[in-house]
Amino acid sequence: MNKKGFIFDLDGVIVDTAKYHFLAWKKLANSLGIDFTEVENEQLKGVSRVRSLEKILSWGHKTISEDKFMELMSAKNTDYLSYISKMDEDEILPDVPKILNLLKDKEQPISLGSASKNARTILERVNLKKHFDAIVDGNDVSKAKPDPEVFLIAAKLLNVKPEHCIVFEDSVAGVEAANAANMVSIGIGSEDVLGHAKYIFKDFTEISNEFINSLIEN
Ligand code: G6P
Ligand code: MG
Repeated sequence: MNKKGFIFDLDGVIVDTAKYHFLAWKKLANSLGIDFTEVENEQLKGVSRVRSLEKILSWGHKTISEDKFMELMSAKNTDYLSYISKMDEDEILPDVPKILNLLKDKEQPISLGSASKNARTILERVNLKKHFDAIVDGNDVSKAKPDPEVFLIAAKLLNVKPEHCIVFEDSVAGVEAANAANMVSIGIGSEDVLGHAKYIFKDFTEISNEFINSLIEN
């Protein structure tokens, strides 16, 4: 059987944590008197914690000390973790386990490729860690998406060439990273946002077994 490398982003692809990042960043931005809506949030998806705070501060034309920066990063993460600690398997996005099981049946290697430093904790909480042959997260990379580093490391760990990898992503930066890695990018979300992906699906319920089979065979 052909072997491809299947790489999944985490937040907004496997689990519905994008809403918790939004709530935590909004609280932080508003506490600094900075407006924060879904529009700003879209630009933070897939973006590392440090870079996200830098962007929020620049939108609000704020300059702060390094100590204050560290304090805000830590406050955001504490707030975010308070949501994560209540998560369970119900927050796995629809049909994700079905696709993971199908890939396992087809003996396809699977990796996580996430910018989050909380990725392992989240996978454990929702009991999905065992599905992954490799995990690459925010602790393993020095360059954030849209740099392809995270996906290239995943390909290496899976022992699959980048051009034989398929990436599932919900963020603009993530699709850019997959394209830059010369991988097949599959956008999970809306066409308006992810138009630069090779394929786009609203969610995994729209992805058929035939489509997965065609990815493996081609
Ligand atoms: C993902 C999310 C981003 C988040 C980043 C870092 O890419 O889409 O919204 O900022 O991970 O997450 P962390 O859990 O390390 O703060
Ligand atoms: Mg994401």
